[in-house]
Amino acid sequence: MAKAKTMYQCQDCGATSPKWVGKCGGCGNWNTMIEETVAPGKAAAVQPGSRASAVLRIGDVQVDTASRVKTGIVEFDRVLGGGIVLGGVVLLGGDPGIGKSTLLMQALAAMATRGMRALYISGEESASQTAARARRLSGDSTAVDDVLILAESDLAVIEQAISDTKPHVIVLDSVQTARSGTLDSAAGTVSQLREVAARIVDRAKKDRIAAFLVGHVTKDGSLAGPKVLEHLVDTVLAFEGERGQALRTLRVQKNRFGSATEVGVFEMRETGLAEVPSPSALFLAERPKGLPGSAIAATCEGDRAMLVEVQALVSPADSGSGRRVARGVDGGRLAMLLAVLERSCGLVLGRADVFVNVVGGLRVDEPALDLAVALAVASSHTGRLVDADTVVYGEVGLAGEVRNVVRTELRLAEAEAMGFGRVVGPSSELGRISGGKPQKATRAGTRGPLAVEAVTRLADALDRVLR
Ligand code: TYD
Ligand code: MG
Repeated sequence: MAKAKTMYQCQDCGATSPKWVGKCGGCGNWNTMIEETVAPGKAAAVQPGSRASAVLRIGDVQVDTASRVKTGIVEFDRVLGGGIVLGGVVLLGGDPGIGKSTLLMQALAAMATRGMRALYISGEESASQTAARARRLSGDSTAVDDVLILAESDLAVIEQAISDTKPHVIVLDSVQTARSGTLDSAAGTVSQLREVAARIVDRAKKDRIAAFLVGHVTKDGSLAGPKVLEHLVDTVLAFEGERGQALRTLRVQKNRFGSATEVGVFEMRETGLAEVPSPSALFLAERPKGLPGSAIAATCEGDRAMLVEVQALVSPADSGSGRRVARGVDGGRLAMLLAVLERSCGLVLGRADVFVNVVGGLRVDEPALDLAVALAVASSHTGRLVDADTVVYGEVGLAGEVRNVVRTELRLAEAEAMGFGRVVGPSSELGRISGGKPQKATRAGTRGPLAVEAVTRLADALDRVLR
């Protein structure tokens, strides 16, 4: 047997170096190189007797449609694109304590009650700890009774247990705690992650098991060893939420089996995660009316429109230039919007502290939020109110123009469903619906028709919406 070599490998991007270096040559990060053992290479030739893949005509390939299984948690299934795929591997990433283990245990319980064999492998907690927590967090405590658990971190033992129990679905919690004895390196290093994930992927494909791998994220928010894992698995999901808030969102980062824009919304409770079928109602529940600094935005994630409240507080800075604090919106985006408000609307904000918050703990990446952020800031600054019956959406450009965004119809429908009377948005789309002038649209809701108003400039939007 060839002697095992060692080399240094970046724990973020997987780049290698024969010598230790402080800064990774691949991604430029500091102090990420760790010494790892390289297993001697295997023969590259096709082994006699191995099952080689055949070249096929696409028309002759049988498309397997029956292999999708619903978890039974509607919000989870939506994000997965209609359920899990047998043979597919899903990586679920998120901060420690965000609820990854709870979400997956609830999914396993829901599947086990429908007769699927579900195996939960924990490398972090003992069987009794896992069972006690599962009972407490599954609402109905008998729902989890049929889930099989294994407290183990040795990959060989895990593989044996999978062979013995022949599960339909497994959860490996977490991929960072599992360790293969064929490598010398410690659990959680890039070479171990790659080995563990590759072997689970291989097993899932061969035995048609749906596998979930739990992955912790590093302090900068990326999965540990992200490049390595993201390419091996079929689906990458991120579980997110603000510490201290009950809202949790499940987002897709990659999905070979479905759309990559869906979002699932959950609320954390004493009894486990509860689905939130109507997020708008949750986000608007405590909305103050008649106070400046608040605007309602029609945002859209995947095929689902959500109304969120954006709050802003503008107050004179103690000294020098003001602070900018953004929660739920990108800080760079906020800085840009403040500059546009100053340049094209004449609001002097340079020496003010500006705080902006998306209520409820949702993070919105969509530029369609821009108009609501700008209006909330302008409202707080001027003391003028945003009309409580109005929903806004639209991207704001550097020249102070209001730009079009996609999915207008979904946004209008959600505004109407939530009982709002007026929508103000970009002219290119709304202009088409309203004929360019403010008018009552033809969509008749239970509370009367929804008025749609098209705006082309941010200054114009401020004039129309603030009172
Ligand atoms: P856990 O699922 O262990 O998070 P992760 O696996 O991402 O680290 O959840 C963390 C703690 O929060 C745990 O003690 C259980 C508790 N919790 C609830 O009480 N209710 C909930 O709905 C969730 C998701 C968690
Ligand atoms: Mg956990």
